[in-house]
Amino acid sequence: MYRGLIVFSLMLALSALVVLKPSPTNGEGKQQWKYVGNKGCKCHLSPGCFEGDEYKKIEHAEAFKALKTPEEQKDPNCLKCHATGHGGKMKDPKLTYLENVTCEACHGPGEGYAEVKNDLAKAVKDYAELAKKYDLKEKGKKTFNELLNKDPMMARKAQYDKGLLVAGINNPEGTIKAQCLQCHWEKEDAKDKCPKAIDEKTGKPKVFNFDEAFKKDDHRDEDDVDKLVAKMSPADKAKWKGYVERDPILNSPLKPEAKAPKKKASESED
Ligand code: HEC
Ligand code: HEC
Ligand code: HEC
Repeated sequence: MYRGLIVFSLMLALSALVVLKPSPTNGEGKQQWKYVGNKGCKCHLSPGCFEGDEYKKIEHAEAFKALKTPEEQKDPNCLKCHATGHGGKMKDPKLTYLENVTCEACHGPGEGYAEVKNDLAKAVKDYAELAKKYDLKEKGKKTFNELLNKDPMMARKAQYDKGLLVAGINNPEGTIKAQCLQCHWEKEDAKDKCPKAIDEKTGKPKVFNFDEAFKKDDHRDEDDVDKLVAKMSPADKAKWKGYVERDPILNSPLKPEAKAPKKKASESED
């Protein structure tokens, strides 16, 4: 009887976990962090930063506008794709989601990024070792950039070990396509699709073409880590296992304008 109760409670707990599975916005297992909103990514969104400029061009930036009525704006079945973080923790306690498909929809809650960027010494467990090895002198907001300049791969490791998500490399869904398919669908008869996304000409549900969509939504630019990884020997790659594997779509060429970014967000103040 007692054991039955325990089993029953366990099952209840498990089913609660299933029901509470966070909306597509990732970070499963990393849900300790809060969603901060695009304001928290202000460097990336300042003019001249490639990621931000590219992001502003695509419909994700305005996806919430599609929800026209107060009912739709409260409907979890719309919010899971037209908003970000619904079901997750918000930095602003007045909010239960962020409007639009924001950076955090694919990269996970921003609070974790801020922790690493603002105070590496506090954010990583093995900081003392790291500081010694790289003779890190800068404090506060400058420490991460100092490490990034001295050893870009170690900076990546610090971010990944902390649990920050890099779409297509260590996102929990595995591939970039799987991540997109949390809100997009490939077949007209898909179960989980948008009831409103109908092709005007054919009257049929619109469908997603990953390769085409990725080209449209590609905001990669060439950074120091990309350059290092490109030159790595197989032995080096083995050494950095878990930090260098890439989704095959990332072997596609970068947009020409991405080769000469005007300003690197990673090198700015915050
Ligand atoms: C499974 C994810 C998903 C869900 C759930 C969802 N949408 Fe969508 N919605 C999309 C996607 C993706 C598109 C764009 C499709 C395209 O253009 O190929 C879209 C397009 C739309 C459009 C057309 C926008 C335009 O600019 O043409 C409207 C309106 C819309 N959705 C409203 C809603 C409403 C209202 C709900 C809730 C009842 C909802 N959606 C639920 C993913 C979703
Ligand atoms: C729809 C999902 C999605 C959204 C929204 C999104 N990203 Fe990305 N982001 C990706 C994918 C996929 C990659 C490719 C993975 C890679 O390059 O390692 C990427 C790569 C990046 C990179 C690495 C670029 C490089 O040089 O390789 C940065 C930085 C970045 N995103 C920042 C942002 C910022 C800032 C925003 C919001 C303004 C944003 N992303 C919004 C999916 C997204
Ligand atoms: C959190 C949900 C979500 C995720 C994850 C997501 N999208 Fe979207 N996407 C949307 C919604 C909603 C729209 C429609 C916005 C509108 O028109 O109002 C959209 C629209 C688009 C569009 C413009 C419409 C079209 O089909 O041309 C492209 C391109 C696109 N997404 C690409 C991607 C790619 C590539 C990924 C994966 C890297 C991705 N999306 C991941 C929700 C999402």
